[in-house]
Amino acid sequence: MEHRVANEVEVALGSCQAVIAGDVEIVLFRHRDGSFSALEDRCSHADVQLSQGNFEDGIIECMAHGAKFDAHTGRHLCMPAVTPVKRFEVRVRDGEVFVNID
Ligand code: FES
Repeated sequence: MEHRVANEVEVALGSCQAVIAGDVEIVLFRHRDGSFSALEDRCSHADVQLSQGNFEDGIIECMAHGAKFDAHTGRHLCMPAVTPVKRFEVRVRDGEVFVNID
């Protein structure tokens, strides 16, 4: 099911923010090319919000212990993370951003 999570212009290029889709905490990324992606807002190493980390060049780095994830796919890129983070589909319609949590 799709949930509206933001207005497109409210999310700056190259930034990320915490949003809620239904009952799922999501970190929404807006890449420098204007595209969006979304991951579960929870590091796969421990229960820490990825949205509090450092987002740069399509990679989110967890603030707690430095695990890095591909913001497009959720793939884990370095220790201490050994599993990926769940990824969600994002669509933009009429300037509104929707995340599908199915
Ligand atoms: S909780 Fe994210 S790296 Fe440890």
